Amino acid sequence: MADNKAQLHIGDKTVELPVLTGTVGPDVIDVRGLTSTGRFTFDPGFMSTASCESKITYIDGDNGILLHRGYPIEQLAEKSDYLETCYLLLNGELPNADQKAKFVSNIKNHTMVHEQLKNFFNGFRRDAHPMAVMCGVVGALSAFYHDSLDINDPQHREISAIRLVAKMPTLAAMVYKYSLGQPMMYPRNDLDYAENFLHMMFNTPCEVKPISPVVAKAMDRIFVLHADHEQNASTSTVRLAGSSGANPFACIAAGIAALWGPAHGGANEAVLTMLDEIGDVSNIEKFVAKAKDKNDPFKLMGFGHRVYKNFDPRAKVMKQTCDEVLSELGINDPQLELAMKLEEIARNDPYFKERNLYPNVDFYSGIILKAIGIPTSMFTVIFALARTVGWISHWKEMLSGPYKIGRPRQLYTGYEKRDFVSVEKR
Ligand code: SDX
Repeated sequence: MADNKAQLHIGDKTVELPVLTGTVGPDVIDVRGLTSTGRFTFDPGFMSTASCESKITYIDGDNGILLHRGYPIEQLAEKSDYLETCYLLLNGELPNADQKAKFVSNIKNHTMVHEQLKNFFNGFRRDAHPMAVMCGVVGALSAFYHDSLDINDPQHREISAIRLVAKMPTLAAMVYKYSLGQPMMYPRNDLDYAENFLHMMFNTPCEVKPISPVVAKAMDRIFVLHADHEQNASTSTVRLAGSSGANPFACIAAGIAALWGPAHGGANEAVLTMLDEIGDVSNIEKFVAKAKDKNDPFKLMGFGHRVYKNFDPRAKVMKQTCDEVLSELGINDPQLELAMKLEEIARNDPYFKERNLYPNVDFYSGIILKAIGIPTSMFTVIFALARTVGWISHWKEMLSGPYKIGRPRQLYTGYEKRDFVSVEKR
């Protein structure tokens, strides 16, 4: 990184702060030296704060570019597959044929979960939100894998990453089966990753139907599109949890919890709920008006993004996949028409244009998931399943070099020191 300086004048003092330059993207001002002035930066929501250095993913929000280890998401979605993308995110390079075969086999051999893990499900109501169950059972994995909890051991970090990528589909399908009251299905080593997940989701011990290759390919592509996205809220949560030395399973459970919010990964479920609420094209104007009304908390779910001020490249690929899957399956989903009309009207509205609000990854994903037969309540679980590799890649990256426990400061605006008042005098 080339060094140059930024000067900060505070009173009669001048502080020189290094300006660091990355491979691509905005320079950053290294404010670590600011502590010598007895002052902190103030940046709620981290609107202009870089929390770390990373080599995994780069987003150019103005031009709608997303690179994983330098490879554009459009190319990975078209030419790669999820496990190959996992290898790339975890290791930094695309695998050769031998490395890929070994990685796939390694994942296959870790897809089963400890049989006793099933007992955890019985503590949940059958109608519990699937994300509540996922938080619980993923966190519980740390109670089973004591042999891989030394976060300072690269081997332990590696096996934890493999276990998490391998087991998330099994756990997600178990969550779904539990909600139905159906027997949980074991993973099969003769099936590919997405195919295996769909097998565990939709087959039963009484009948095992082959999985449609079209649906399996679409599922795999959805996993690729959700794999990583630099320092989003849930990834930052995983990094913060990891910085205290917490074990990887606990960190991923923290990431799942953060992803659940409707402003983040919960948006895919919220989009379908919103489309249901809009119901018909004739109601779109009314809901767009609600989204623009500052006195109305309603937002257009699946629209807007902290970084993208142009099209989210994932949304474009998702829309293409949506068209492919629906036509292949011969489904004419009125909600797709409604979503497209909503996008057209919103994109031509000055409020959305002025604020550079475009459809994000969540806008069309739910329509494909619904076409595949996945219930709305499971949409964010699918997001968590796919994002696990991004979370654990960032966790590994942080632990592979020097790091400090994350501990932000604050601007205190509460009372100054005052003495206790006994209850008789209050
Ligand atoms: C994901 O960070 C990531 O990378 C996340 C993600 C990933 O892969 O990890 O990409 C996944 O979380 C995608 C986002 C999914 N969330 C939604 O679709 C929920 C709806 N979107 C909004 O809640 C919002 O756009 C956010 C949360 C996504 C971004 O919010 P910001 O960056 O804090 O922006 P903001 O809320 O300050 O919005 C700026 C302006 C505001 O209006 P003004 O105060 O300028 O008048 O745009 C308005 C907002 O009110 N606005 C919207 C809007 N999104 C922003 N108005 C109506 N509808 C919306 N969806």
